[in-house]
Order: sequence, then C-alpha cells, then structure tokens
Amino acid sequence: MGKKIFSGVQPTGNLHLGNYLGAIKNFVKLNNDNTNDCIFCVVDLHAITVKQDPKELKKNINETVATFIASGIDPKKSIIFNQSGVAAHSEGAWILSCVARMGWLNRMTQFKEKAGKDKEKASVGLYSYPILMAADILLYDASHVPVGDDQKQHLELCRDIAQKFNNDFGIDDFLKVPEPLIQKEFSRIMSLKDGSKKMSKSDLSDLSRINLSDNKDQIINKIKKAKTDLLPMPNDIKELEGRPETQNLLRIYSNLSNSTLDNSLKKFAAKNFSEFKKALSELLVDKIIPISDEIKKLLNEQSYLDSVLLDGVEKAEEIASKKVKNIKEIVGF
Ligand code: TYM
Repeated sequence: MGKKIFSGVQPTGNLHLGNYLGAIKNFVKLNNDNTNDCIFCVVDLHAITVKQDPKELKKNINETVATFIASGIDPKKSIIFNQSGVAAHSEGAWILSCVARMGWLNRMTQFKEKAGKDKEKASVGLYSYPILMAADILLYDASHVPVGDDQKQHLELCRDIAQKFNNDFGIDDFLKVPEPLIQKEFSRIMSLKDGSKKMSKSDLSDLSRINLSDNKDQIINKIKKAKTDLLPMPNDIKELEGRPETQNLLRIYSNLSNSTLDNSLKKFAAKNFSEFKKALSELLVDKIIPISDEIKKLLNEQSYLDSVLLDGVEKAEEIASKKVKNIKEIVGF
C-alpha cells in the first residue's frame, strides 16, 4: 500500500543544500512513486514565529513554491499549498495545544537554540510551534513525514500528542500516529565553515551554505573556501573519524552522485584535496544550477505559481476541514 506523505518547509528565504538533500530531494522521490499520496506545505504560519517583513514573506512563499516545482515535485501529482490558506491548521493547533503538556514543550531543544539567551523576548508562537506542526501532520492522517534530523524531536512530540488525544477521548487510532522518514546518512548536512554546526539559513555567513539560488561562480567559490583539515584525503571510513568537515563534503558528494560514502572514499583515496573539491564543485554545479535556473524562470510566472497554490489550498482544505470538524465533535463542541 502507498504512503500518505506530509511535510513542510518554512518560507524564510535562502533555501539551501541542507533543505534540498535532507528533505526536498526525498519529497521528489516520494512524489515520483505513484503509489503515494503526497502533500507538501509552505508553512507560512511557522515563518511568522520570528519577525518577517510582509513584502519579503510574500516573495519567500513564491520562492519556496518555485523551489518545490523546480526540484521536481509535480503539482499535478502532489498537493502543494500554503498553510495560512487553510484555516483548519490554526483551529486544530489550538485544540491540540490543550492536549499537549508544558513539560513536553519545555524539552524541545530547537526552541532553546532559536530563542537563545533571551527566552523572555521570544514569541509565544516560537514556543508552541511544534504543536502547529503536529496539527499540520495529524489533519491529513499522514502515515509518513520526510524530514531532516533536526525535526525528529518535533515528530516525537506529534506522536505523543496524537496518542494522548486518542487516549483522552477513548477513540483508538482516530489521530493517526505518523512515522518519521529520515535518511540516515544525509539527515544533517553541516555548515561549510564548521563541521559541528548544521547548515542553516540563519547563519550570518553566506559562505557557510550553498543556496539553491547560487550561481556557478558562487558555488565554486564556496567550495574552494570550505573548511577542511591538513591531512590528506582519507582512504577509508576509519580515517574519517574526527574529521567532520571532510566527512560532510564527502557525504554531500555521495548523495549528489547517488553513491555510497564507501564508494566516494575509494574514488578519492590518496588524491589531493584540490582534486576532490574540483570534482565536488562540478557535481554541485551540475545538479544545483538547473534547479536554480528553473526557480528564476518560475518566479517570472506569477499567475502559474498563484494557480498552483490556489488549487492546492482547495484540495487541502477539503481534507483538513473534515478532520477538524470531527475533532470538534469529539471534543464536545
Ligand atoms: P525547515 O523549514 O527549517 O526545514 C525544512 C526541511 O529541511 C530540513 N533541513 C535539513 N536537513 C538536513 N541538513 C540540514 N542542514 C537541514 N536544514 C534543514 C529540515 O529538517 C526540514 O525537513 N518545522 C519544520 C517545518 C514544518 C514541518 C511540518 C515539517 C512545519 N510543519 C509538518 C514536517 C511536517 C521546519 O521548520 O523546517
């Protein structure tokens, strides 16, 4: 039987190689398997948990839709929509926030990282954001949720919320408990400047990431400047230990060439770093530039992008409004 897939990406600009390899590339694979029902959401309600410029937000929503399509998601096969277009997400999130426990949310490491030292000044939305994410998933009875490793804890919370709701109201399996789909080897693409930090759109240094909108020269320059170590290229997995930057670059190479880490290690064993970096840049240019060109093209087709979202919102609305209606009945409204 096919899977019911739901996943989301925040429209906060600078979609990067981590988003692509950790999530979007997998969305495309799931979209192409005709047995799955896929829904991909531009989570604009999540984006406003930190301050956004309204004009930029609109632009970033367009860019995220364009990135989905340019990467290979077919809007005729998968539902692509923006979260704020479907009121059930906000409604469902409120009801589920009365099911989730403070203690559960207090354990969320991403809130601690994002709020930083000044927790008092973080928005309430940033704190309760994983509940909105749970509503996103549960409203569609998703069986599987493809995400990068950083979202694993939020998915566990979603599972806990579903189970508690079902228990509290005595209805087995009403909210479907979803499974995460996390690609083991590529679940955490790291910064090009620091192998201990995740590649992130909020990193101040643009050199830390490959953006999906970068041009050829930018990609080549970023790989040239990517941090490595002073040792020669490793011969095997053992020689990769304690070398996070080299490991990250080799993982990126393996993923993009649809190869294994072992094979990439063999290919570059005892070669010069410069030779490896050249091959990696060429591969990145080969894979990323067509996407980046297609994004630019699609951004000039505003009415097409609007029609994709309009159509997606209509289809998503039909599913989610029914589920939230049932939730309200169960609760006693
Ligand atoms: P967001 O927008 O931060 O990231 C989108 C997806 O990209 C993955 N990702 C990475 N994967 C590997 N390496 C990295 N360096 C890297 N950086 C980002 C993320 O894991 C994610 O899969 N809360 C979510 C969005 C969301 C959602 C949902 C996801 C809202 N509702 C429902 C799934 C289901 C987020 O902020 O992702």
